[in-house]
Amino acid sequence: MITHGCQMNEYDSHLVESQLVALGAEMVRSVDEADFVLVNTCAVRGKPVDKVKSVFGDLRKLKHSKGLMLGMMGCLAQLEEGQQIAKKYEVDVLLGPGALLDIGRALEGNGKFWNLAFKDDINSFIAPPPQGRLSAMLTIQRGCDHHCTYCIVPQTRGPQVSRDPDDILKELEGIVAAGSLEVNLLGQNVNSYGLDRAGFPSFAELLRRVGRSGIPRVKFTTSHPMDFTDEIIDVIAQTANVCKYIHLPVQSGSDRVLKRMGREYTAQWYLERIERMRSVMPEVFITTDLIVGFAGETESDFQQTLELYDAVGYDQAYMYLYSARPGTPSYAHFDDLPKEVKVERLQRLIERQKHWSQLKNTALVGKEFEVLMRGPAYEPSFMEGHSSGHHTVLLPAGQAPIAGIYKAKITHATPHMLFGEVTQTVRQVSFAPMQPFSPVTSSASMG
Ligand code: SAM
Ligand code: SF4
Ligand code: F3S
Repeated sequence: MITHGCQMNEYDSHLVESQLVALGAEMVRSVDEADFVLVNTCAVRGKPVDKVKSVFGDLRKLKHSKGLMLGMMGCLAQLEEGQQIAKKYEVDVLLGPGALLDIGRALEGNGKFWNLAFKDDINSFIAPPPQGRLSAMLTIQRGCDHHCTYCIVPQTRGPQVSRDPDDILKELEGIVAAGSLEVNLLGQNVNSYGLDRAGFPSFAELLRRVGRSGIPRVKFTTSHPMDFTDEIIDVIAQTANVCKYIHLPVQSGSDRVLKRMGREYTAQWYLERIERMRSVMPEVFITTDLIVGFAGETESDFQQTLELYDAVGYDQAYMYLYSARPGTPSYAHFDDLPKEVKVERLQRLIERQKHWSQLKNTALVGKEFEVLMRGPAYEPSFMEGHSSGHHTVLLPAGQAPIAGIYKAKITHATPHMLFGEVTQTVRQVSFAPMQPFSPVTSSASMG
């Protein structure tokens, strides 16, 4: 399995891998050992689509030389664009994000199998807990009922469907029993959970119940500002094991651009949400997503994004060049800006982000945090982990030799990382966790 895209794709890859293993497949580490390679794809920007083409270009050669069977799943598979790519590169199995549990049926025939239906079974499927994961993912809702004009996701993932709360809590029980110390609740708009189903708990109530499961740390991503209620803020504040960390994509600081993006809020409204979060939780860490160079964005619009960045003072931000995606309303109705304009603005925004992240991280020097340490960092004298505020933290390897939760005093900060010294061992795990941040690149062998 080769996985591109967001955490929701990583979770889906785990679902499919668990099905393959149940069918007797052995997961192998390299394409050379595999006889079936399934690529989980992303379509959110042009770049991931290009990446898929290049991966399938290589795989098609192997298909011809050694009879490899090829599969495409995920967001790109759902689109006409992806189906054209699948035809061109001679893909045998194609599964849209709502048809993943058909993987067994797809492999029965050994021939061409394409399914793009959004089926209910995926939402009631309780995934077996991933083994050896300090931090486990748990998808609680799929799809999106918002219609941002730049975004392809409503087309790839369909309308929102919230999972049954009992299924979610049962899956969580398995995660706790498997020894994970953190759960990350996932959804395209995780905090819109329940809005599509009468009688389902709200996201705030679900978070409360997840907090009671006893798992040491709870995170969630991604939240839509429009559905971030006061009740959610209060539950985060009142629930000890819910991390005081909120990822709240703003996309732009200009009301004119926000309106053209179909984001449903103004910059002022968004700032008031942030104010409310900080009035209840002064210590909360806030990160965001920003799109630079949206179609028609003027220099003055971009200045307003920089102003909003300063007004919030984000701990971290994920910044993207606007990518005009065929099939989205903004692609059809607005002209794209020249690439040089977008790139130059992105560079200025990155400078702003570095400035703020350095400032925010430096303010943490001397403070103590609980850090979830996963394993060796790229530099072997350090162990790498994550704070509850989602910072990457490096601690001396000798002080945190076993994965688990440690209390650490921050000694040094860069815009992207915190360094610290262990002050207390809180909890260690008895398994060797999967290595952090390694791309998911196992392949299935049906031999
Ligand atoms: N549902 C989440 C929200 O609305 O905040 C975001 C999910 S989206 C998969 C992740 C991020 O990709 C978005 O927050 C946005 O910044 C970015 N994105 C989506 N479409 C894009 C496009 N056409 N060009 C550039 N970035 C895009
Ligand atoms: Fe895309 Fe907007 Fe839905 Fe997020 S809320 S997935 S950006 S359409
Ligand atoms: Fe990409 Fe689909 Fe996620 S388009 S970002 S894999 S929801």
